[in-house]
Amino acid sequence: MRIGVLTGGSDCPGLNAALRAIVRKGVQSYGDSVVGFLDGWDGVLHDRALELDIPAVRGTLPRGGTILGSSRTDPLTAPDGPRRIAETLRNRGVDGLIVIGGINTLTAAAVLADRHGVPCVGVPKTIDNDIHGTDYTVGFNTAVTVATETIDRLHTTAESHKRVLVVEVMGRSSGWIAVHAGLAGGANCVLVPEFPFDLDRVCGHVESRFQATYSPIVVVSDSALPASGEVDLTGLSGIGEWLGREIERCTGHEARTTVLGHIQRGGTPTPYDRWLATRFGLHAVDAVHEGDWGAMVAVHGASVERVRLADAVSRGKRVDASLYADNEIFFG
Ligand code: F6P
Repeated sequence: MRIGVLTGGSDCPGLNAALRAIVRKGVQSYGDSVVGFLDGWDGVLHDRALELDIPAVRGTLPRGGTILGSSRTDPLTAPDGPRRIAETLRNRGVDGLIVIGGINTLTAAAVLADRHGVPCVGVPKTIDNDIHGTDYTVGFNTAVTVATETIDRLHTTAESHKRVLVVEVMGRSSGWIAVHAGLAGGANCVLVPEFPFDLDRVCGHVESRFQATYSPIVVVSDSALPASGEVDLTGLSGIGEWLGREIERCTGHEARTTVLGHIQRGGTPTPYDRWLATRFGLHAVDAVHEGDWGAMVAVHGASVERVRLADAVSRGKRVDASLYADNEIFFG
């Protein structure tokens, strides 16, 4: 068979590990050839691609980013998009396309597979871990690891200066990175988009930590908001900086903010992300050979299984506070 593959949406560590697994399994186990489309769906729309053979993926397992490049191009809003996608795949003799992406990239794959007959199989990746139907997505574990290491480091400087340290992490509309890294790093307060926070309660909690001789660490997701509604972030780097200022104003304790930003998305993937990406890649090639179009590979516990792409993208996966109720963390 001839397999096509693309990486779309925000990059994350583990994409190259998935590409490597697809090429090795396809070529070595099935005698396939593999073509990689450049810059996500854009490369299929404009027929830009490169051949991926074993030498092309050699040494890429620990490398962050994606050797194919990525973009947020949406083929469903591009003029005549579905027809152009189908035409490129036909002209290049592609029998099945493995789409490695987050919600938006995979939504396009679901629609193209189910409504336009484009032979797609999905692989979920995003540091946000917000894709329904899979316990974890490629890239999430690395982002949590980076955020946890940062919190570990911030504890010592917070203690030395008796300061409040606010850490802003990524996550878009879900607080998975904040919750996992906050718990792993021993943060005192975690604020996530799923639960709008009460600033007075946050300040009260910060104060009570000081009384207990702790210098508190507050983790906040980049899209978390106070229950009072929108805040004016003009001139600020984001919600983390706003929160640091407000905590300092309310409590009188000095506060500093660290914004982790794209550090969470760069660099080498953790062993778990390499494992997950490799297993997803291997399994996706099997799905292509079975013609299981519209499927998405997913991990449940230690098992890699398949779910329907359309179902996976039909709703976001959000943090459920009850899962974290029996720990020391205070949710806004
Ligand atoms: O979806 C991944 C993500 O890193 C989010 O966590 C974050 O909110 C967003 O992308 C940042 O996007 P950009 O790279 O365009 O700044």
